[in-house]
Amino acid sequence: MEVIDREGGRYSDWYGGHCVAILGHSPPSLARALSRQLRRLVFYSTAVRLGLREEAARRLLARAGVEGGGVFFCNSGAEANENALKIAVEVTGRKRFVAFTGSFHGRTLLALSVTDDPILRAPFTDLLAPVDFLPWGDEGALGTVDWTRVAAVILEPIQSMAGIRTAPDGWYRAVARRAHEGGALVVADEIQSGLGRCGSWFLSHTLGLAPDVLTLAKGLAGGVPAAAVVVGRAVRERLGPQSLGSTFGGGPLASRAILATLSELERLDVPSRAQAVEDDLRRRLTARPDLVLRGRGLLLGLEVRGRGAELRRHLLAQRILTGGSRDPDVVRLMPPVIVGRREVARLARALLAFPPPAAAAGA
Ligand SMILES: Cc1ncc(COP(=O)(O)O)c(C=O)c1O
Repeated sequence: MEVIDREGGRYSDWYGGHCVAILGHSPPSLARALSRQLRRLVFYSTAVRLGLREEAARRLLARAGVEGGGVFFCNSGAEANENALKIAVEVTGRKRFVAFTGSFHGRTLLALSVTDDPILRAPFTDLLAPVDFLPWGDEGALGTVDWTRVAAVILEPIQSMAGIRTAPDGWYRAVARRAHEGGALVVADEIQSGLGRCGSWFLSHTLGLAPDVLTLAKGLAGGVPAAAVVVGRAVRERLGPQSLGSTFGGGPLASRAILATLSELERLDVPSRAQAVEDDLRRRLTARPDLVLRGRGLLLGLEVRGRGAELRRHLLAQRILTGGSRDPDVVRLMPPVIVGRREVARLARALLAFPPPAAAAGA
């Protein structure tokens, strides 16, 4: 999980290349699988069947516990969400969405429509789809929407860009209940939280979100561009043959990379590994109540009141890479899942050396 700069400086990467480098930056198993695939077949049209793609779909459906469902492969997170929302329009015949304050789902037009970022949205407001943004985690607010007019509600089980925001446990079930009672689909954007990183293969299942559609990207193919939209049987059966398409999605290289990545994630038993790292880090930080750990598994935020940028600079000086967020108090940690005790100890040492607020104020 190290990256090396031009001068040979070695950095411990707790940013994980924006949550993509799930197996680290040059995983040997991926290198072997891809070099074999490169010698065999780089690309062929999705007009014909490809065993690798079908195997990747089967493995994802089995992991997601979806029987009789389907997988559409594409190339990026925005594209996955774009297609998930189009699927909801096709299946329900409705054209409105519900999303939540603080959301980030991507920059294509439908994905941007459900993204709560005024700066990104400003140049395109006339082109965006109608969306009700409800306050994150607020159960009462769910009653303010006419769900019989909604095609889909979309949410990240943990809002990452917003600053690793979680919601009360019962809220996720309430979202699913309201949506399903009104005939709307639930789209879980597990682009960051999925694949074991949060202590279970898919966090939405643990939280009782009962998604009809699941979107995956980021580390799905270990850093090779790839994304997937996973749907249950009921949705799959209502899609027409012309509904979805992509030239590159699910190509031989991406499919091979997905299979190699899934095998390695399973071999590593990522969910329990991620949980163990979180527990270890929490234990090591008990002496520092000013550093509050948010999130789950290996999708974590360090909340440090009024000092997020200062903490990131401090860690960078110790050659530890972290991520910022839209919350200036929160520093994000989303390292490769191969992170070991040595790296945890190194991070904890650096955090304990961060001057506590009283010392910082006196300095
Ligand atoms: C939760 C979430 N959804 C969607 C996206 C968009 O993914 P991409 O940049 O691959 O289009 C991101 C990217 O950061 C994300 O974090």
